[in-house]
Amino acid sequence: MMNKILYYTIVLAIAILGQICPIQSFSQNTEGGLFASERLILTPKPKPSPRINGPLVYGARPGNPFLYPIPCQGERQIRFLVKGLPPGLTVDENTGIISGVTPAKGKYSLLITATNSKGKSTRELTIVSGDKLALTPPMGWNHWYAHYDRITDQMVREAADIMISSGMADVGYQYVNIDDCWMNSPKHNDPKRVGPLRDDQGNLIPNSYFPDMSALTDYIHSKGLKAGIYTSPGPLTCGGFAGSYQHEEQDARQFADWGFDFLKYDWCSYGKIAQNLDDPRIPEPINGKITLEGYQYPYKLMGEILKNQNRDIVFNLCQYGMGEVWKWGASVGGQSWRTSGDLGFELDRIFEVALKNSEYRQYSKPGEWNDPDYIQIGYIGHSHKQGIPELTWMPPNMQYAYMSMWSLMAAPLIYSGDMSKLDEFTINVLCNPEVIEVNQDPLGEAAMVIKQNEELFLMVKNLADGSKAVGMFNRGNNDAEMTLNFSELQLTGKHLVRDLWRQKDLGRYNRKFVAQVPSKGVVMVKIENK
Ligand code: GAL
Repeated sequence: MMNKILYYTIVLAIAILGQICPIQSFSQNTEGGLFASERLILTPKPKPSPRINGPLVYGARPGNPFLYPIPCQGERQIRFLVKGLPPGLTVDENTGIISGVTPAKGKYSLLITATNSKGKSTRELTIVSGDKLALTPPMGWNHWYAHYDRITDQMVREAADIMISSGMADVGYQYVNIDDCWMNSPKHNDPKRVGPLRDDQGNLIPNSYFPDMSALTDYIHSKGLKAGIYTSPGPLTCGGFAGSYQHEEQDARQFADWGFDFLKYDWCSYGKIAQNLDDPRIPEPINGKITLEGYQYPYKLMGEILKNQNRDIVFNLCQYGMGEVWKWGASVGGQSWRTSGDLGFELDRIFEVALKNSEYRQYSKPGEWNDPDYIQIGYIGHSHKQGIPELTWMPPNMQYAYMSMWSLMAAPLIYSGDMSKLDEFTINVLCNPEVIEVNQDPLGEAAMVIKQNEELFLMVKNLADGSKAVGMFNRGNNDAEMTLNFSELQLTGKHLVRDLWRQKDLGRYNRKFVAQVPSKGVVMVKIENK
């Protein structure tokens, strides 16, 4: 009995102490800003009044189905009004979902208004009807690093639900993407994923966890969200499931018929095919080495096929950067291409991976994105073991740095953690509209790395409005003072500096801005050009 009382007294004391002095530590910078080294939430809570977010430009192909949910924070019920909608498109004024058929080639300027009882927000959006898709980096979720070969229809639907309920869709996340392991496999430890790979007509057969793909995409679309799928140009995928080799056209048509809007096209098991001299379609290797044409071939083939579907399907190349894919990914119809191997295996080298990816910045432009892989924070499954999701080991400051780098690099923002375990801190890292605005800037430039030593570096991204977004990064083990000289940004005189994570103006600074940057962390600011 006595032991129990003692136990509860200690528990109570710890709880009270936790309230009085939360386990957070701060350091003060010279300008008075606070930088946290614990799970401190920096993103201000959305206000009850509406705030329209999302890109300023949106690409779609004429005559294809159109779907765009206006990302908007604020207390529901919000009423959406859109001026300038071209014929063929309508807006649901209660949900803010714009849908219909993409109008003829051209630019259409819309003025969106969102109103609720607390206020009003307006924002322009230009729909660019033409050849190009993904005029800003795709944003969404992918199941891989959370669910691996455990993915089910139910989990995908749940992810779509949570994309809405968590507020992610309100800041622009839209794609709900299935990765590998949705098909059948010739052999797997779960018998429910084993079965014939194709039917008599050669159509792919989803495994028994995916009873009705069209119903699944209908469900995703009903929320204004878009659906993504995965396959490989080889006979089998990386996970050993059915691939698309020699069924490319049939599979692409199937994906379009099912209603998918995004295809991730891997490489696994294609290596052998690329060496196969018996297939007359495939460019021959030279001295046993795959040529540039050989690397390009499967993507060119699929890129062409996708363009001919009567749906907009964003094409994501996943061949880890081989043959310098950043130089030709767009020419084969890709909107994004992985620049390296799986980040899951390199998560502890996140700064290095980002710096490497930045070397290809000149290839980043609207509709053409370098993809350094997914955002893995919150609950993720250890990728070496394809484990059950656990809370990331990554220090909070590093998570802010991660999201900042991806935003500055104009990388696709695809979250790949367990949606059902999204916590407040993770949502705060994923959903800061001012940070995301840097990522979605219509200029489409990726940040340039200026000033770099072993521990510190600066990333600078030119924005369409003439201002600059700057990430001051510290990879070291101690907090460090960093100076941003405006002359390095080709700016002179005084400029307004805004802390993007805190969404707070820090004041007008003359010639330079000095900040205390936390260990493994970032200070991310916008330098206004005025
Ligand atoms: C890898 C790819 C991962 C994931 C996995 C599925 O090749 O890089 O992102 O898609 O295959 O097996």
